[in-house]
Parts: sequence; C-alpha cells; structure tokens
Amino acid sequence: MCGIVGYVGLRPALPILVNSLQRLEYRGYDSCGIALCGGHLEVFKDTGRIGDLSSQLTSNGYSMGIGHTRWATHGKPSQANAHPHTDCSGRIAVVHNGVIDNYLELRTQLIREGHTFRSETDSEVIAHLVEKHHEGSLESAVAAALAEVKGSYAIIVVAADCQYMVVARHENPLIIGVGYRENLVASDVPAVLDYTNKVIYLEDGDLATESRNTVKVSSGGKEQKRNCDHIPWSIEEAQKGGYEHFMLKEIHEQPKAITETLRGYLSHVEPQVNLGIEVPAGIDDVLLLACGSSYHATLIGKQVFEALTGMPTRVEMASEFIHASPVLRRTWVIAVTQSGETADTLMAIKKAKMLGGKTLAVTNVVGSSITRIADQCFYTRAGPEISVAATKTFTTQLIALYLLALAWPDVGAKFKSTIVQDLGRLASKVQRLLNDESEIAQQGETLAAFDNVLFVGRGINYPVALEGALKLKEISYIHAEGYAAGELKHGPFALLTPRTPVVAVAALDNTRESFLANIREIKARESPLLAIADERDTEINKYVDCVVRVPGVEPLLTPVINTVALQLLAYFAAWKRGCEIDLPRNLAKSVTVP
Ligand code: M6R
Repeated sequence: MCGIVGYVGLRPALPILVNSLQRLEYRGYDSCGIALCGGHLEVFKDTGRIGDLSSQLTSNGYSMGIGHTRWATHGKPSQANAHPHTDCSGRIAVVHNGVIDNYLELRTQLIREGHTFRSETDSEVIAHLVEKHHEGSLESAVAAALAEVKGSYAIIVVAADCQYMVVARHENPLIIGVGYRENLVASDVPAVLDYTNKVIYLEDGDLATESRNTVKVSSGGKEQKRNCDHIPWSIEEAQKGGYEHFMLKEIHEQPKAITETLRGYLSHVEPQVNLGIEVPAGIDDVLLLACGSSYHATLIGKQVFEALTGMPTRVEMASEFIHASPVLRRTWVIAVTQSGETADTLMAIKKAKMLGGKTLAVTNVVGSSITRIADQCFYTRAGPEISVAATKTFTTQLIALYLLALAWPDVGAKFKSTIVQDLGRLASKVQRLLNDESEIAQQGETLAAFDNVLFVGRGINYPVALEGALKLKEISYIHAEGYAAGELKHGPFALLTPRTPVVAVAALDNTRESFLANIREIKARESPLLAIADERDTEINKYVDCVVRVPGVEPLLTPVINTVALQLLAYFAAWKRGCEIDLPRNLAKSVTVP
C-alpha cells in the first residue's frame, strides 16, 4: 500500500516530508520520492529506503512539497516508476495511491495527443491529464482530470507556479492535518502526528485545496463542511490504526483487500472475468505449487479448478516437489507465494520450468524474485502484510484462484454467473463478520486454556481446517492439527478427551450428511465442540457445544469467510495468552532459505 504526504507552511518542507514518510514506513514500500515546489519543481526519487534518498538531499529553501512511498502495482520498482510523476513540462507533480483501471486507454489517447510518458505506471496519466486541462486554476484542472479517471485514488497535486496543493480521494484513505499557519495531508494519521493532532478525514469524492492558512473541501463542485477531529493516539498506536497488533489490523483490512484483488476483473452485466492472462494452449492438467498458508490456498484452489473447469489439478508442497521426480507433460504450473521470495517455491518453479511446464506466479509483491522467473504473473494487490501470520494475503490468494478458474474458457454460464455475483458480494459479507467479532473473541479466549486443539472440515473446508490449525499454532503456541473429519476414526480419535477441543468447520454443501455423522462421533468422545457455521444452518447447534455463525455464501466461496473466522479465533487465543502475536518465535515473514 503506497503512502502519500504533503506539506505547505512556513517551515522547510524537506525534513517534514522525510519524517512524515518515515512515519508511513510500516506500510511497506519498494521505492520513494519527494517533489519540492516554489516557483519551480525539484523531484528526487529512487528505489530503496527514505533514509538513503534523504541523505543525498540538501534542497531546503522550499516550504511546500509532496512525498510518496511506493508499493509497486503497475511496473517494477525502479527510479522511473517511483513517484512523484510529472507532466511533460516538469511543472506539475503528482503522488497517487490506488489503481487507475482505465489507464491504458487514457495513456494511448494522451500519447496520441503528444504527451510523452516516462514510466510504466498507471499513476503517470494523472499528471498528463492535469497538464491537458490546466488552463484556469490547478483545482479545476485536477477536477477535470479526475472526471476522466476510473478506479481508486488518493492524490496530491502541486504545480510550480501555484501556492497551494490540490488533494482528492476515491476509495483510498486521505487525511488532512490542520496546523497553525501550516497544513499537511497524508494517507494515514501517523504521518502528521508530529506536527498536529487535528485531522480532517476526507470522504470519497472529496477534492480539497490546502494553502498555508486555508483548507477548502468540495464535493461534486459544492463546498463542504468537514469536521476536524482530535487524535488522542500515540504514534505507535496510530501506525496500527488503533489496533493492538498488525495482525488484527490486517484481518480487518480483508474487505478492502478482496475488493482490490477483484478490481477491474468482474463484469456483472454478462458475467465475465477478464484477467489479461492467457491459459496456455493445449494443456492437459494444472499443477499448483506453494508452501505454508499458500499451500493451503492451493489445496482449496485445486477443488475450485476441478469444480469450475473440469481440468485435472494437482497440488504439491514446493519443498517436497524439489526432491520429487515429477512428470510434466502439457502442464500449466501455478506457483502461489505472497512474498514471491520463498526459496522452496522459487526452486520448485525453476524445476517445473526446466521440465517444460508453462508457469504463472500468483504473488502479492510486484518485482519479487518469482516475477522474474514465471512466464506470467497475477498480483493479489492485498497491500503489504507486516504480521508474520498470513491473513489478507491468504484470502486474496483464494480470490486470485477463483478468478483464474472463472477466466477459463468453457466454465458453465449458470455456475459462473452465481459465483461471479457472490464474489462481488464477498467483501461486504466479510465486513459483516468483522463487525461483530465478540462471539469469536470469547471462543478464542476459551481455547487459550487448552494445550491441544483439533480442527476438522470436509471437502473444500478441509484445507480451511489445516489453515485454522496452522494459524493457531503459529501465533498462540497451542498444539493444533487439522484433519479431514472422516479421517479421525483412522487414528486421531485416540487423542479425543474432554481436554481436547475440536473446532468443526461446517458447510451446507454435499459433505453435510457425512460431516454431521463425524460430529456425532466426536461428541460421543466428550471433546468440547465448537462449530463455525453458516448463519442459515438451523441444525448444527443440536450437535455441538457452541456455534460461531458466519454470513452465508455460495459453497465454493465458504473457505474465505470461514478462514476469516478462524484467523480471529487464533488471534484472540494468542492475545489471551499474551503472545507476541506479530512476531512469533522462530518464524520469519519471508522464508528465503530452502
Ligand atoms: O510468502 P509465501 O506465501 O511463499 O510464504 C509461505 C509460508 O512461509 C507462509 O505462508 C507461512 O506459512 C505463513 N507465515 C503462515 O501464516
């Protein structure tokens, strides 16, 4: 997730912009840049850290400027792709957070009109559009430019000859920091807290101008009054958006992350999925490769692929695949890794390529190592994930796999239509689950008292049970295992006692009858039983001790909603145990050693 900052006042802008950008470093970034403004523009940008960039800068005579930390989405991390972006004349500079869906169309049109582009980014079109419309005020030029843009944005625009900044937002956060004879703007509160704790939260569709002494907000061309809030948080609290841990913040970011992963790909008019990714011609099967949580996502992906496309699909743990003697004929190999840097997955995809497989990487990190190996890439756009435990990167991997299956030629129209519609509603259902987490929190705190927990599921929710168990053991250090519910009687039954709670991931699908039979078997062994169940399930409470209800979705999509519930369960168990949730012992966010 990119971070943007802007300052206008009486003090030197450079150190304030540098400090504000550093306050946004927790969001993760691959490159950064600053534009200083006053009669003319000076732009400094590069890949790497803000500290390294700022150590080379001495331009201190400016009292207005903008800054950016970039988390690449279009084009690799590079100096050219870093923000700010300027127009042809170099007199207008823009920083942008978000995704411009129609940038290719706009770029083609602008090039035809004589504009020269210097980057591969979607964001640069904004600078050129503002230039194109810059006849009167900068404010009206920005409004005219944004009228042509489809997508999401938070932007700050400055022009060499203008003494104010123009800022605007649509579906991306932007706050104004109101100071004494100075004003700031940023993606998030921590960036302004060193200078002011008075903040205006802009709303979607707002466009504002900020000079040293004034802030004027308008929407749809009409001036608006927005409240100025007082922020009582410390910097540290503010970086976590008021959440106690990054993990909880990232769990709560999932509705937004899911929306971003889907953005621009679904058409509801005639249910269509267009990803711009080519399914290689003449393939006979699909092989999914991954590790850890990403491996669990591929186990779900296998079932989705087979249900929707009928294409034989197998899954291999990347760490095992590297020692195997696999046979790949006309196989499409899809490697899934949030970081794009997992050594086992990189070795596995290289091996698959060597064996003649056509390769696709599903990753969250543009420019990561896997993107330089795979033939094609699909980006999950979840934004940076700081907590070691995968949460929003996992659910967005699932979304990516649904999209890849739906984009397949020949998916049945009726089935496709139902799934596409339900995918479109998924983010709001996840939001509804998150809005009322009190029951899950209580159940999580109850689990904290046990040393062993089993998770069970069937069908597409079996890998969800595996993921629930991984999450719990990873952050709470409670021993947890996931099983296919039908497998318990083949051994794990020996573990069932009143001191071994079982979390049952229930679904209203074709596994229902056999799953209920498994639940009864568990109950007979006196294990405390907690079910995660669809809110429309009127029967499950007869068989279990407690139920956490989740919003109902199409059976194929239940892994997303059920996993979010299990993430919360693990989080609250770990919280109750006082664990160091974001940095569990012995674990790293990117496992770059084989
Ligand atoms: O970056 P990757 O998706 O390749 O990482 C794979 C695993 O290391 C990762 O999913 C790990 O299991 C998570 N920490 C689990 O929460």
